[in-house]
Amino acid sequence: MKPDLKIKNKVFDFRNPTVLPSGFYGEKFEEMQEIYNYGAGAVTLKSIGPREKKGHPHPIIAKTEHGFLNAVGLPSPGYKNMEELWQKMSKRKFPLIASIYGTTINEFAEVAEFVASKKPEIIELNISCPNVEKFGMPFGCDSKIAAQITEKVKNVSGKIPVMPKLTPQANDIAGIAKACEEAGADALTAINSVGPGMKLDLKTGKPLLSFKKGGYTGAAIKPIAVRCIYDVFDATEIPILGVGGVSNGKDAVELMMAGASAVGVGSVTYTRGKQCFSEITKEIEDWMIQNNVKKLDEIIGKAHK
Ligand SMILES: Cc1cc2nc3c(=O)[nH]c(=O)nc-3n(C[C@H](O)[C@H](O)[C@H](O)COP(=O)(O)O)c2cc1C
Repeated sequence: MKPDLKIKNKVFDFRNPTVLPSGFYGEKFEEMQEIYNYGAGAVTLKSIGPREKKGHPHPIIAKTEHGFLNAVGLPSPGYKNMEELWQKMSKRKFPLIASIYGTTINEFAEVAEFVASKKPEIIELNISCPNVEKFGMPFGCDSKIAAQITEKVKNVSGKIPVMPKLTPQANDIAGIAKACEEAGADALTAINSVGPGMKLDLKTGKPLLSFKKGGYTGAAIKPIAVRCIYDVFDATEIPILGVGGVSNGKDAVELMMAGASAVGVGSVTYTRGKQCFSEITKEIEDWMIQNNVKKLDEIIGKAHK
């Protein structure tokens, strides 16, 4: 009998555990549908902000030896200017995670209230972006603020599950995770980009990114993601979307053993192409067959048993 790749818990109901994380392939319905057609179990929209915001000037992404640096700067049309997207999304046949951000606690609630009315499967709270000034990552490093944002969003999001996205830069990611859970979070995403890091152009001696510093993603960050997921799983009882450094099916299995119920497939799409969603799902399936694993529940959190 073929292994069962479905993920079903209180929050996730996906045909397989691969998820497009926020920030890849834009915010159009067609782009999200395409990624689902390529085999993703669920897709996440680029983080939606309170007002129209331009991103940083190019270059916004730089390839490094073992990953990528990015400083996109959270560009957004603003939640009020996305009517066409929501109209098309209302007829979607795939699970949608809507990532949102605010520059203040109240703005998170403002965006969440509107987005909840559009009925995504999950609202993800980006309290962890390393590439903006003043807001973003600092919210995710402070357990009181992270909890306040979660609580305020829960108050306005009705039945839509809320999933704060954690930063590996927090001194105590387990403490932040616990504070979010106690404030009502239904699930958690771990992790956002690491850093920031820098890359210099040796010809000019200057930083390659226009914003100078950028979040680090891709294969190199996997051990940090595994450690963060492990710590968050230990500290909480809610499902985890594990994100960071997955390049193949075995990486996905490793994040699940650390405690993830579903797994982000982000930067690797730049190198393997969009078809890697179905390929990685097949690699997970092959690994399960070889190791006589029939259901993903058998491996989720195995590192703790
Ligand atoms: C170009 C780029 C843009 C991103 N934009 C967002 C974003 O808007 N919101 C967010 O929460 N994370 C964003 N991220 C972080 C990813 O969702 C993810 O957490 C990170 O890339 C680690 O996963 P990976 O190693 O599989 O790429 C972005 C990452 C990249 C590379």
